[in-house]
Amino acid sequence: MKLLAYLLLSSALHAIPHITTDLKVAHQTAPLGIDDAKPRISWRIESEKPGAKQTAYQILVASRMELLEPGKADLWDSGRLTSSTANTDYAGKPLPSSAYVYLKVRTWNGESASKWSAPQKFLTALIGSQPKQPFISFKDTTPFHKERNKLHLPTARYYRGAFTPGKKIVRAIAHSTALGIYELHVNGQRVGDAYFAPGWTDYRKRIYYNTYDLTPLLQDGKNTIGAIVADGWYAGYVGYGKLVGYGPHQTGRNIYGKTPALLIETHLFYEDGTSEIIGTDKTWKTTTGPEVEADFLMGENYDARKEMPGWATAAFDDSAWENAILAEENGSHIQPFSDAFIKNENREFGFVRPPVFQAYPAQPVRITQELPAQSVKQIKPGTWIFNMGQNFAGNVRLKVKAEAGKTFVLRFAEMLHPDGRIMTENLRQARATDTYIAKGAPEGETWTPRFTFHGFQYVEITGFDTEPPLDTVTGLVMHSDTALASGFECSDPVVNKIFQNAVWTQRANWIELPTDCPQRDERLGWTGDAQIYAASAAIHADVAAFFRKWLRELEESVTKEGYYPSYAPYCFGHGGGIHGSAWSDAGIIVPHAIWKATGDKSFFTAHWPAMSRFMESRKAHDPQLKGKDFGAPWGDWLNLNDATPPSYVELAYFNKTALMMEEMATAQGLSAEAAKYRQWRETMRANFRTQHLKPDGFIQPGSQSAYVLALDCGLLTDPAERKIAGDKLAALIRAKANDKNTGMTTGFLGTKPLLPVLADTGNLDLAVSMLQSRKYPSWGYEVKNGATTIWERWNSYTEEHGFGGEDGKMNASMNSFSHYAFGAVTEWMVTTLAGIAPAEPGYSKIKLHPHFPSANATKETDTISWIKAHHDSPHGRISIHWKRQDDGSLLYEATIPPNTTAELVLPKTSPWGGTDATPVIHQLAPGSHRLVIAK
Ligand code: BGC
Repeated sequence: MKLLAYLLLSSALHAIPHITTDLKVAHQTAPLGIDDAKPRISWRIESEKPGAKQTAYQILVASRMELLEPGKADLWDSGRLTSSTANTDYAGKPLPSSAYVYLKVRTWNGESASKWSAPQKFLTALIGSQPKQPFISFKDTTPFHKERNKLHLPTARYYRGAFTPGKKIVRAIAHSTALGIYELHVNGQRVGDAYFAPGWTDYRKRIYYNTYDLTPLLQDGKNTIGAIVADGWYAGYVGYGKLVGYGPHQTGRNIYGKTPALLIETHLFYEDGTSEIIGTDKTWKTTTGPEVEADFLMGENYDARKEMPGWATAAFDDSAWENAILAEENGSHIQPFSDAFIKNENREFGFVRPPVFQAYPAQPVRITQELPAQSVKQIKPGTWIFNMGQNFAGNVRLKVKAEAGKTFVLRFAEMLHPDGRIMTENLRQARATDTYIAKGAPEGETWTPRFTFHGFQYVEITGFDTEPPLDTVTGLVMHSDTALASGFECSDPVVNKIFQNAVWTQRANWIELPTDCPQRDERLGWTGDAQIYAASAAIHADVAAFFRKWLRELEESVTKEGYYPSYAPYCFGHGGGIHGSAWSDAGIIVPHAIWKATGDKSFFTAHWPAMSRFMESRKAHDPQLKGKDFGAPWGDWLNLNDATPPSYVELAYFNKTALMMEEMATAQGLSAEAAKYRQWRETMRANFRTQHLKPDGFIQPGSQSAYVLALDCGLLTDPAERKIAGDKLAALIRAKANDKNTGMTTGFLGTKPLLPVLADTGNLDLAVSMLQSRKYPSWGYEVKNGATTIWERWNSYTEEHGFGGEDGKMNASMNSFSHYAFGAVTEWMVTTLAGIAPAEPGYSKIKLHPHFPSANATKETDTISWIKAHHDSPHGRISIHWKRQDDGSLLYEATIPPNTTAELVLPKTSPWGGTDATPVIHQLAPGSHRLVIAK
């Protein structure tokens, strides 16, 4: 076969002139509550001109919209700065606190300047200071909960306070937070749309607060501020604490403290230039309301008859409410605490004011989509099951018309038993049950819980005497509101479903932190899962602010020895933190991945001392760099009877992260540090050879993941040796494969790099056949069995044994159907099959390197014959399309955004089969390109 025709077209990108757009501050659009003194400002350009590049930019920042003009901008006029970089850190006058700041940017493409971007604004929090008002609480006379086997589910509390300004207000900015989770209301209206504020930190060390503009909600005369506060992570059930007996009295609740507390500090700015601060204090009143129970894991119990219409308005009569107290007046509560390291050691669970406050730095959890129920079925008299058609995380809006006191109980599940019952065994100790007691509104009533969420596809409801209409429940999809940024479609619908399932699983687990799962009594920020998936996450959504935030929690949880924890926030940390090889590595891998995706070095510069300390700690533990695992020996977690020793995993991961450290040190100009890591790697590679590599290329310990990790983690670098290892890995898989089994045995660590290393060692067709397989174990097997999300384990459900796993004996309790680690295959789908990857951090230079399987790569189904994919990079959308045409030629199309270049790697002749011995490299400029390679 030879190259018959080569057509390279550059065409207009969009029918628009060169514009500057999509301004972001601290990686968010128009954020509320920025406390960085020098927040990052970024933008992108769009242009109809092929090859458009930014050659210079100018930023204006002003305290008032009218001042946002050259020569007038009172905070910053950068002047024309020659640069192709589409971001910068704010470098103007000190930013005012509690104020809107306006900005606009223009850019130059050579001599031609864009128009000014549409102006953007952001609201500052307290810059360089902290909220100073007191936390208030209710007088909590309940005894400290001590019974591990009995649920304790206190009611949520309502608070209200009032102020009557004597002068005309021009601006009212609230900084609010709670030890617990809260919802803010002003003059009868809910403020903002965030759920689970102020988020989860180690409240003993640090708390986030939210900043809101109350000005439009204020009225003349008396104004009322109210809040509803529930236990949340602070005082409610957290993770698997109850299951394993962690926490005070081993109950799994009150991990940080006994009684939730509230702080609202409102800064009033008057027309005459003066200002005043109104805070929560003892003039506030408090009571209980309809949320009879409001627990994050256990669910909500809402008695609508107890609603207090207008409770946050001035007209409301609060004479029956109690007076609030200062939170410290509830006194000290020293109680025995247990965790992984200590048993019943006394600790303080009374109020302690968090020493550090920070403005919430990311998109909050919001309802981002509504899902109508697909069907309803009665499985026994009075028990109705709604199928939402999609496994997701969030809540439902319940709509009923019933007499007062009628009770509806809602239970949630991801799967059904064969007899139609909901499968709740995998929820473990999470009760995940909501109860609604109707108030009897003649026109009907609707309800959505505020302080809980569930991971589910099915809702079981009891309480209806006749068949409830389908619109009784509406699914409310909730997650940290990170904009979606990817797309992938190809000729195989099963592969497309795998991609969608991964995105849904990411959405279900992006709830304030990267959780492992949204349904059972866990929902923790497991670091192993996060490190495996971080690069995929950054392909599927704009996760920069989300990870910037979580990396703080990760660093906050570092053990005293310097190890990153196994999950962050590390809530059971009075006695130290569990950690382990490949889990702790998130501290290096996540900053590296997000730097690559965004180009922002602050993801590692902000954490460099902790990152360096972690690397030194593991080096001190294993001075000869031979591979000595530390902490928990999870190894290649959830592999299929093909374990890899944790010490081997450590050698691989230490080497992998040493390479990342070397790269990040170089990027900061730290050449001595870079040299140190290079040297460590040389030693590790040499140790790998003597300890693990046999003369014939056999890798001891011989598991599939041992080969995968050697290839992926840089232990084996010689191309000929890599080829041998890749082929041995392929042979191991083939030897195990049969009519019913793909032959894959890899677990958490081995699966993500499995297809990449196969493809990289000339085994692309095998990799593609595994991606497309419908046999067990595989992603397609899940799809074939109805999956709408990615499962925790390959054998979460098998056709032979249902939830019993491969042998029918599996304990269904650790069996999530929404776990993203195996979804990391989507990174390979985008970077390798579609071939879109950053060649330089932040995609200023793009690597377009698609891979084309042979026509007969798989015998189970038709081989992928076309792919359309895109990623919304910081510079804009990168999209590709390739197609095997009827005559056997290849059509390849790509569009890359302004201010980037791309290196396109295509085979010189027949593309089919992944042989790239003599690739042709094309340099692409911004714009659209079309190529045809003949058969
Ligand atoms: C979690 C995992 C996690 C693991 C640690 C599990 O319970 O769900 O995803 O990484 O524990 O081994």
